[in-house]
Amino acid sequence: MAADLVSCLLFLFLFSSNAPLLARSTHIQCTPTERRALTLLREGFTDPSGRLTSWSGEDCCTWEGVQCHNRTGRVTKLDLRNPYHLINGDRTAYERSCLGGKINQSLLLLEYLTYLDLSLNDFQGLEIPHFFGELKSLQYLNLSFASFAGEIPPSLGNLSKLEYLDLFADSFSSTGPRELRSQSLEWLTPLSSLKQLNLGFAKLNGVAGQWLQMLNMLPSLLDLRLHWCELQGLPLTLPSINFTSLSVVDLSENSFNSVFPQWLFNLTGLTELYLTWDFFSGSIPADFANLKTLRVLDLSDNLNLEGQIPGFFGNLSKLEFLDLSANNFHGDIYEFFSGFSSSPNNKLESLDLSSNSLIGELPDSLRSVKHLQHLDLSSNSFWGSIPSSIGSLSELRKLDLSYNMMNGTIPESFGQLSWLVDMNLMANS
Ligand SMILES: *[C@@H]1O[C@H](CO)[C@@H](O)[C@H](O)[C@H]1NC(C)=O
Ligand SMILES: *[C@@H]1O[C@H](CO)[C@@H](O)[C@H](O)[C@H]1NC(C)=O
Ligand SMILES: *[C@@H]1O[C@H](CO)[C@@H](O)[C@H](O)[C@H]1NC(C)=O
Ligand SMILES: *[C@@H]1O[C@H](CO)[C@@H](O)[C@H](O)[C@H]1NC(C)=O
Ligand SMILES: *[C@@H]1O[C@H](CO)[C@@H](O)[C@H](O)[C@H]1NC(C)=O
Ligand SMILES: *[C@@H]1O[C@H](CO)[C@@H](O)[C@H](O)[C@H]1NC(C)=O
Ligand SMILES: *[C@@H]1O[C@H](CO)[C@@H](O)[C@H](O)[C@H]1NC(C)=O
Ligand SMILES: *[C@@H]1O[C@H](CO)[C@@H](O)[C@H](O)[C@H]1NC(C)=O
Repeated sequence: MAADLVSCLLFLFLFSSNAPLLARSTHIQCTPTERRALTLLREGFTDPSGRLTSWSGEDCCTWEGVQCHNRTGRVTKLDLRNPYHLINGDRTAYERSCLGGKINQSLLLLEYLTYLDLSLNDFQGLEIPHFFGELKSLQYLNLSFASFAGEIPPSLGNLSKLEYLDLFADSFSSTGPRELRSQSLEWLTPLSSLKQLNLGFAKLNGVAGQWLQMLNMLPSLLDLRLHWCELQGLPLTLPSINFTSLSVVDLSENSFNSVFPQWLFNLTGLTELYLTWDFFSGSIPADFANLKTLRVLDLSDNLNLEGQIPGFFGNLSKLEFLDLSANNFHGDIYEFFSGFSSSPNNKLESLDLSSNSLIGELPDSLRSVKHLQHLDLSSNSFWGSIPSSIGSLSELRKLDLSYNMMNGTIPESFGQLSWLVDMNLMANS
């Protein structure tokens, strides 16, 4: 009853001329302690473009990038990602928009902070503060593209609620990327809620052969990105496999110098797999056909992958993007394309087989890959003429057949390719 009366009065007030006054007096405000904590944080930052000029006044819940719980008024989210995009290349404007400087320990007073994003700023080689490991409520931590450096503090392993950890260590700063390192990934193993992990560009060359076992302890992991981490020593087998929920794996630009490991084919939930420039060798195992949910497969630039390109790719009914370029694949592509003709519902949109040693004529079965938008077969030794069936690739936008040994005339069916914007047939006969 009392509650009903209150909401009734509230309703009346909201529709009377006193409404603004009431709204102000009932608005949830931040606590003085948290306001003070944020003020100290701001004082430690450099902020050339004045992004944080709104950080004054009583109610810190209204400050730029600060979000409070709507009932308790406690700060839950701090989104200080640099909003400036470098897309049009105005570096000066980007750099002015960067926060930098120091990170005051007063941050720890934000006990209910679940989300912290400092990405795209420039902390100029500052170490990731050890005390971040005491931000107990944190579920999301993004320090990517922000020029942090030094050893990743193992205390981050205390963040037991963490679901997203992005420390991608490349940088847009003109002072260049700094070296972020980790000697062992053991600190990761308590993070049982972790869903996404990105340590791209961090130097992990000291982690020896154990890094994979550490990651294998993370049962919730969906998205793993270790691009350009100087990793070596990829174990070919694992005694048991815990990280079977993995959906996205990017291990590209490391130095594995091995064949594809067997455990890879037990990750049957994979949708995106990036293994480019990893020095993998050998042929493509038929086990790839187990990965039935693959949408993206990039095995480009391994230089030494060899043998014939198998026919089972057509069986991967979700596959949209396949890149096998810059390897040493031999033989013809008849089997490869006939795999797609027996899968009329294939979804392949982008196919790159360029820079291999492939031979033969382009088969008529090319027509069965009917959603192709991008086809690159350049820098091989294909011969014969372009099949007129090319005209049935009605979604084709980009075609590259350059640097082959093809001859004859360009078929009239090209006229049907109404989306085609980019075509290269040079260096043929
Ligand atoms: C507070 O936020 C929660 C979840 O975001 C939402 O469901 C709820 O309606 C909000 N309450 C008020 C009073 O705005
Ligand atoms: C944090 O703020 C306090 C109070 O101003 C100051 O004494 C301390 O040096 C600051 N710490 C950092 C790391 O800036
Ligand atoms: C972290 O921030 C970067 C840059 O702002 C963004 O691209 C990336 O998606 C973020 N990572 C996560 C896990 O949200
Ligand atoms: C946090 O992690 C560090 C290093 O791993 C450890 O020494 C410390 O005891 C941990 N603290 C808590 C409160 O768990
Ligand atoms: C798999 O996880 C269990 C418990 O989560 C752990 O005891 C085991 O060591 C893990 N296996 C591997 C190979 O890491
Ligand atoms: C991988 O999958 C195969 C076939 O399903 C199974 O026999 C094997 O035990 C699995 N390997 C591991 C390490 O779980
Ligand atoms: C691919 O599918 C065809 C028919 O759907 C089947 O005959 C063939 O064995 C499959 N190949 C592989 C490698 O799974
Ligand atoms: C194309 O090349 C093949 C052999 O290299 C030759 O037999 C054929 O006559 C050529 N076709 C045309 C149209 O020049």
